[in-house]
Order: sequence, then C-alpha cells, then structure tokens
Amino acid sequence: MKISIIGTGYVGSVTGICLAEMGHQIHFVDIDQAKLDMINSGRSPVFEPDLDDLLLKNRERITTTTDIAKAIRQTTLTIICVGTPQNPDGSSDLRFIIDAAHSLGKGLKKDQKYHTVIVKSTVLPGTTSTVVQPILEKESGKLAIKDFGIGSNPEFLKEGSAVHDFFHTDRIVIGTNDPKTKDALKALYKSLHAPFFNTDIKTAEMIKYVSNAFLATKISFANEIGNLCKLNEINSYEVFRGVGMDSRINPHFFRSGIGFGGSCFPKDIRALISFSESKGVEPRILKAVIRTNDEQPQKLIALLKKHLDIKGKKIGILGLSFKPDSDDIRESRAIPIVLTLLHEGAEIIVYDPMAMPAFKNLFPGISYARSSDDVLKSDAIMIITEWQEFSNLNYTGKLVIDGRKVNKAGREATIYEGICW
Ligand code: UDX
Repeated sequence: MKISIIGTGYVGSVTGICLAEMGHQIHFVDIDQAKLDMINSGRSPVFEPDLDDLLLKNRERITTTTDIAKAIRQTTLTIICVGTPQNPDGSSDLRFIIDAAHSLGKGLKKDQKYHTVIVKSTVLPGTTSTVVQPILEKESGKLAIKDFGIGSNPEFLKEGSAVHDFFHTDRIVIGTNDPKTKDALKALYKSLHAPFFNTDIKTAEMIKYVSNAFLATKISFANEIGNLCKLNEINSYEVFRGVGMDSRINPHFFRSGIGFGGSCFPKDIRALISFSESKGVEPRILKAVIRTNDEQPQKLIALLKKHLDIKGKKIGILGLSFKPDSDDIRESRAIPIVLTLLHEGAEIIVYDPMAMPAFKNLFPGISYARSSDDVLKSDAIMIITEWQEFSNLNYTGKLVIDGRKVNKAGREATIYEGICW
C-alpha cells in the first residue's frame, strides 16, 4: 500500500520505517526539513535500536516531503503521528494535530480517490471525531465515511524495543465505523499475524490511555508495596514473582524502584486525570499513582541520608535516561534526584552511556564523567537507570543506594540500600 506518515518523531519514524519493511511505500511528511534530510541520508530522526538498519534496507520504498497535499495525492492512506504535548494544567495540547488536520483537509479537497485518515497520535476519547473530522470536512468540503475514511489506530510501542514491539504486538486496535477504513487497516497489517480488535473510534482512543494508566498503576502499586516490604526486610521482587504467577495477574511491570518516567506514562495519566475531572469523575486511583511516583525519588534520597550527611559530599549518579537503551531524559527520575541533591549542597558527578548531552542542557553546572568507573570514586553512588554496563562494575568497598535493583551492587557494596528490597 502507499501510505503518508505525518510527523517524523518517535511514533512516525518507527511506524513508517517498520511499514516499509513490511513492503509498503512510505511518504514521510514533516514541517521540519532537517528531519526529512536525516531520513534521506539513511538515518532515523530518533534513536531506536535496529531502526537505522531497517531504514537503510528499505530506502527505495521511502520518500519524504514537506507538502502534505502532494503526499496525499500519491497515497491512499494517511497516518497522523504528530506529538500531543502536555499543557501546564495536564491537558493535551492539540496544536500539532489541528495544524495537520487543516493541511490534510486542504489536500483531501484536491484528491479524487477515497483516502483514509488514521489518527495514531495519542489523543483523548472524542478528539478524532470532534476535532480532527470536522476540520477535515470543513477544509475539504467532503464528508467523512462517504467521501473519505477516518479511524483511530493507537500504538503500544516501548522506547528501546519499539521495532520488536511493532512486529510482535499483542493486538492491533482498529477504531472506526467505516467498513472501508477497517479493510484498509486490516490490509495494512495483514502480514503481522496479530489479532485485530475492532471497535469504534472513541473506544480505541480510550484503550490507549487505559493501557498506559493500568501499566503505570501496576508500577506505583509495586512501589507502594515495595516501600512496605523494605521496612519489613522483605524483597518485593520475590513477592511479585510469587504474585505474578497467578495468571489473572501476570508477572510484568511489577519492577519496583524509583518510579516511572518517559514521554508517555506521566503525560498520559495527567491527561486522563484532567479528562476525568472535566467530566466530573474524581480520578482517585490515577492521582495516587502520580503521587506515589513523585515520592519515590525522595525515598531514595532518605535512604542516602541514613548513611551520609549530604552537604559538601560528592555523590555519583549512575544513569540519567528514563530507562536503559534510550537517550530520552523526559520525566527521568534523575531530574528530581539531582535537583534535591543540589538543593542540599552536594557535589554531583553523573554518568550515562547515552543521555549526557540532553542532561547537560538541563544541568550544565554539574560534572559529567567520562566513564562509569569515574562515578565510583564518589562518597556515595546512586543507581537511577539499570543500564546493562552497570551490572559489570566493581562496587566493592562502596556505599550504594540503588533505585533499580542492580544485583551485583547488592552483592558487592560495603553499604547497600535498595529502595524496595
Ligand atoms: C510506555 C508503554 O509501555 C508503551 O506501551 C506506550 O506506547 C508508551 O509508554 P515507554 O515509556 O517507552 O513505553 O517505556 P516502558 O518500558 O513502559 O517504561 C516506562 C517507565 O516505567 C520507565 O521509566 C521504566 O523504568 C518504568 N518501569 C517500567 C518501572 O519502573 N517498572 C516496571 O516494572 C516497568
């Protein structure tokens, strides 16, 4: 199939390149020519394992343009993948979606064939039908379902394993009331052999939020139980191994620790809270999930203070990205940790295999180590991200406060505190 992908950020790049690998012709559209230039030169605009290799392999099936109307003319299906950042009050900023819809609508006006528009960006229930569709109809002078197709197809990709997740997805959610759109999406993903879940547009939009909210809830639940376990000298990992053997529960996403970060969980839960409140439903559980998550970094600091008067001491931070194998520091737990340590007068040295350039923009005044070994020379070491290489360090004789359960540190350090174990 011939497909336009609007937006070459994380979701757009991964989706487009993986669809090219499946044999589809991809037209990437972005307002940022620099990102398109990167794609044209064989480099993905976002870091993700295996993505550059797939891009190079499928180059002849990939073209780029800043002209949406041109892309629409050459394709039959458009997937909107632009960002939906967070407003200061937690709600979603739909600016990019709205801009894309206006340009798309103008393009649809000149397109003679039946073109299908799919929203893959994470948007609150109702957004596709009440925001995107009316703009498309107004700009094109056409009617949804009669003259063009419309639907929602949320993604469930994890950073660091997005290519694998794309090809091994548990389900493909197809939200539409339009039989032609449903058929188009089924044809698009046919070779993935994943189950299709057909529903209406706003249910599909809700499924995305509820999936993220439930996973984040599991993590905050594991952290709350983990805090209780810690006080009772119980290893919460052992507890959740036992709990997760119940098939009604399953063992995944129970890794207790310093909490969740990233571009999705915190933002999506805040948006769901704001959505819920706007409808008059008090989101008690969701608020508690965020609160527990916000408190975990301070718990790690409290453990450090048990062993050390922080003021004037050199504290080494291992890991800055919100998860391993990523250079993304959005909502990383390293941020509140460094802020608190600075506030308390500590000297800080940090190391991360990939995220130091991004962190430097936020904290230019702290020391950036050349290797993880340099961090080990500090008065105390805090583990914030479980990069594989931190499992190969020699922690003998060290004071280690661990937010991510690096077992070797637990075995070797002279003084060791795990946050939930
Ligand atoms: C998440 C969802 O998993 C994905 O389906 C959605 O499309 C986007 O948001 P992502 O944020 O990339 O993906 O990473 P994920 O692996 O889910 O981790 C998010 C955060 O939770 C990380 O900070 C991670 O360290 C933390 N986490 C995850 C835990 O603290 N414990 C766990 O058991 C799992």
